[in-house]
Amino acid sequence: MKKTIDTNNIPEHVAVIMDGNGRWAKKKLFNRIRGHQEGVKSIRSVVETARDLGIKVLSLYAFSKENWNRPKREVESLMKLLKKYLVNETPDMKKNNIEVRVIGAKEDFSDELRELFEKTNLETKDGAKMILNLCLSYSGRFDILNAVKTILRESNNNRIDPDEITEQFFSDHLYTRGVKDPDLLIRTSGEMRISNFLLWQLAYSEIYVTKTLWPDFRKDDFIEAILDYQTRERRYGLTSEQVQ
Ligand code: FPP
Repeated sequence: MKKTIDTNNIPEHVAVIMDGNGRWAKKKLFNRIRGHQEGVKSIRSVVETARDLGIKVLSLYAFSKENWNRPKREVESLMKLLKKYLVNETPDMKKNNIEVRVIGAKEDFSDELRELFEKTNLETKDGAKMILNLCLSYSGRFDILNAVKTILRESNNNRIDPDEITEQFFSDHLYTRGVKDPDLLIRTSGEMRISNFLLWQLAYSEIYVTKTLWPDFRKDDFIEAILDYQTRERRYGLTSEQVQ
């Protein structure tokens, strides 16, 4: 029997580690870039499905801070792909009411790309249906250090009482400020790692790992992950009886 989605239990925020583009390409004897190109098609499919399901925030780990150390040719191709993606997809994002935000160390990118990030957000920011967080030059540890530095700078100007530093206060200094922590983390291609993704924000997220490689991960695979999420009991440290 085909399971159906419970529309009353849709995760508000879904984060995705899109892994396996290289392996997908290798299996097919293509170069790695072809794997990333095919991965963009999966992004399109997942963004559309998430929006249709009523997910409010989708965070995609598209490029980590560590990814800058990949071969120069691969980094250059990823930057080209990113530019093409932003230019091509913005009109549809606008039409579909999706706000695109780039989060991460934006200062690591070229002036041209930084301007494009700004322009994309300006053009889409009235989109109230879903926020698409593109995590670029993102590192969870860097996010946390950055928050600590910002708080210290604020405290030099106007001394902060250490007791004022609550979890909420700290969250408000992270790149994801203003959005709920992820309810669900999806990782493709089978690896059981968080890989320096939203370290603070994933504290209570449900984790779903599939062996499917990212370029093969499309609408039905995303729905499968949501169905699996809907079988989970979220206890936040309580007992099952307390939750029920
Ligand atoms: C991991 O595959 C994938 C990435 C480096 C990030 C995801 C990038 C895309 C889906 C395409 C570009 C994105 C945009 C927004 C234009 P991998 O290369 O690590 O795969 P492997 O582990 O099999 O080698």
